[in-house]
Amino acid sequence: MHIVHSISDLRAVLGPLGRPAFVPTMGNLHDGHIALMRRAVQLGEVPVASIFVNRLQFLPHEDFDSYPRTWDADCERLAAAGCQVLFAPRERDLYPEPQTFKILPDSQLADLLEGEFRPGFFTGVCTVVMKLFSAVFAGKTSGIAVFGQKDYQQLMVVRRMVQQFTLPIDIVANPTERAPDGLALSSRNGYLSASERAEAVALSRALRTLGEAAKAAGDALPAQREALEQAARAQLDARGWQTDYLSVRRRSDLLAPKPGDALVVLGAARLGPTRLIDNLEI
Ligand code: PAF
Repeated sequence: MHIVHSISDLRAVLGPLGRPAFVPTMGNLHDGHIALMRRAVQLGEVPVASIFVNRLQFLPHEDFDSYPRTWDADCERLAAAGCQVLFAPRERDLYPEPQTFKILPDSQLADLLEGEFRPGFFTGVCTVVMKLFSAVFAGKTSGIAVFGQKDYQQLMVVRRMVQQFTLPIDIVANPTERAPDGLALSSRNGYLSASERAEAVALSRALRTLGEAAKAAGDALPAQREALEQAARAQLDARGWQTDYLSVRRRSDLLAPKPGDALVVLGAARLGPTRLIDNLEI
C-alpha cells in the first residue's frame, strides 16, 4: 500500500493507474469502514482510501480534538483489506490557507435532521469531500466513491453535490454494518462505557419500533406521524437518552412522507456524552 500525504504525491501515484474506487474516512477504522474498503476493492481498478479528521465539519464544542487517531492499526487494516493507495493529508496539505471558499449544500436537504442539530456540518463535509474528490479523481474520466448508509443524510447530500456539479463519480452506498445485538458500528461507539454500550442498542430498537408503527399507520401516517415520533422520543428519553430526533421521512428527499412514499426512519440521540446516529429503511 502506497501512503502519500500531499496532493501532488497522490496525483503522481494515481496518474498512471486506472479508475479509482475511493473510500473517504476520518480514521479510527472499524468493520464498517473495512466493509466499504472491500466493496471498493470489488468495484474499482485502484482501491484508494483517505484518512483525514476534518476540522471544518465539527462544531466548536464537538470532539475534534479528542477524536481517536489510530494510525498504525488503521494502516494495517486498510492494507489487509486490499487498499492500494492511502491518502493521509496533514491539515496544511489539504487546507494550506484558510478555507474561504466553501461548498454550500442545498438547504432543503442539509438544514434538516443532522443539519438542524449540527449547523454547518454538511458544509464542512461537502467542502472536504469536494477537495478529496478533486485530489483523487483529477485527470480521471470516471471513478467510484463508496459511502456507508449509516450516514444516510450525508450520503444523500454527497449524491446531490456530485449530480449538481456533474462530477464523473458513481456514488455507491454500502449497507450499515451492525454488532450482533444490532448497534450500528461507529467510531464513536468507542466512547461508550460498558453500561452505555449495553444500553446503546436501544436506539436501533427505537427506530425499528417507530418504523413498525409508521407502517401500521398506513395512509394515516401523515396525520399520525408527529404523535408517533413524540412517543418514540419520550420512550428513549425515559431510558436516560437525550434525543435530538427520531423521525419518519420519505427516502427521496427526507421531507415529510405522503401516502405511498418509500420510507426511512432516522434517529440521533445522546447517551451520556456520546452522540449516536442510525437509520432504517422500512
Ligand atoms: O463520514 C465520514 O467519515 C466523514 O464525514 C467524511 C465523509 C470522511 C468526510 O470527512
